[in-house]
Amino acid sequence: MIIYHLSTECYPVAKVGGLADVVGALPKYQNKIKDIDAKVVMPWYNKSFVHDHEFDIVFDGFIHQGSNMLQVQVLKEKTNALGFELFMVRIPGLLDRDNPYGYSDESFQFLAFQHGTLHWLSAMGIRPDILHCHDYHTGLVPFMIQHCPEFSFLKGVKTIGTIHNGEYQGMMSWEMANYMPAFDQYKWGLLDWNGVINPLASMIKCSNAFTTVSQGYLEELFVSFRGLESLVRDEFGKAYGIINGIDTEVWNPETDPMLDFNFNVKNAIAQKKKNKERLCKEYGLKPELPLFAFIGRFATEKGADFLPDVVWKSIKQSYGALNIMILGSGNAYIENKLKEYDYIYSNFALDLGYKEHLSHKIYASADFLLMPSRVEPCGLNQMYSMRYGTVPIVRYTGGLRDTVEDISTGGAGINFTFPGVDDIIHAMNRALLIYNKKGEMENLIRANMNFDFAWEKSAEKYIALYKN
Ligand code: ADP
Ligand code: GLC
Repeated sequence: MIIYHLSTECYPVAKVGGLADVVGALPKYQNKIKDIDAKVVMPWYNKSFVHDHEFDIVFDGFIHQGSNMLQVQVLKEKTNALGFELFMVRIPGLLDRDNPYGYSDESFQFLAFQHGTLHWLSAMGIRPDILHCHDYHTGLVPFMIQHCPEFSFLKGVKTIGTIHNGEYQGMMSWEMANYMPAFDQYKWGLLDWNGVINPLASMIKCSNAFTTVSQGYLEELFVSFRGLESLVRDEFGKAYGIINGIDTEVWNPETDPMLDFNFNVKNAIAQKKKNKERLCKEYGLKPELPLFAFIGRFATEKGADFLPDVVWKSIKQSYGALNIMILGSGNAYIENKLKEYDYIYSNFALDLGYKEHLSHKIYASADFLLMPSRVEPCGLNQMYSMRYGTVPIVRYTGGLRDTVEDISTGGAGINFTFPGVDDIIHAMNRALLIYNKKGEMENLIRANMNFDFAWEKSAEKYIALYKN
């Protein structure tokens, strides 16, 4: 069975968040299953990976976007270094950028990626068994292969759409239809939602099946999906919740080259302490105090707007008996508030930016990881932290409620339900009680490290779905 995953991100080529981790790992684990050949197609970016690896040009052609003729090249990484065949679609001017997102003409960029990919497959006579589309950036593919004559060769190829984040739907005005490959006009309703082209809605309508990255999140979409609630209810017969795994080869505290001190479940207590001491020293924190960490985008979705108040209130209420460290970036107001507190409080450390190495060090060093997300389709941070012996404190939502069970019911994490500063601090106070009971804390560290979040099970579930 031949599967093409289409995605704008893939670790380690280009990563903005969890989408990259999933697309960098899932095909690798799928390829370990008999008779499965999973590949990845992504846009070409000006990233170190592409300069450090050798590629063959496997296709060179042209597509039309409105009245513009665009050159399309497809480059294949020569050695399959990632555990799967990697194809990068390069379109000068649109798909040759430094980063996946953040450009004002991104609708053109993503249309070009989808059009260019399907043009290449059709022109070269490549007919996969499955096209697996990830998020709205590739959400028009199921429509295009059914209703654009240019891709009639691909008509009938089965499509799966995975919703990693339903907060982003890629809506664009109907004017953009002029820049799409020509399609059967009377099918316009399959593109439309509330008077605009909505790629995520179109993916739900036109794919053979769609998935969310946890069962918990799927249930939430029925009541909260930025306007698509009724659509997901209508289409629930082809909806599946499949929880993400983690790449236990990349995220292995025993071999992770990004850590100062490697460890396993047997020596975790001593080695984590050394990691923590090193990190605290570097950031001026107090290693004898518990360390709470947050890693992520400063977005309301992640509850990052709570962080400034959590910082000052928790430090004040505990009389300075804890450390907090935050790594991330995003909303400017949150960044500025946190910078101010970084200056005021010696128990607080802030590192603004995206730093893969530092994130690994924090997962290995912290005692607790905070995830006060309002929305969390799956969440990978909690799984990384658990694997690295750091106790997750999570809001009971989406993938977080599927992966973190509270200690009160026999789990190894801490849950809270209401998204608010006081509830976060209450959860932190529960954490402090545990931290001060040494034996209990050590048991918790080991219990977290023993959880099995490997991709094997979920990779199998996707294959079963493809076969269906
Ligand atoms: P999302 O994709 O919604 O941001 P996930 O929990 O699925 O959330 O994945 C986030 C991924 O991005 C994790 O691998 C996390 O370690 C990483 N990450 C987030 N922010 C940063 C940062 N500032 N520096 C390094 N890694 C980060
Ligand atoms: C999205 C979601 C996150 C999920 C990730 C990978 O970025 O916000 O919860 O873990 O995709 O599926």
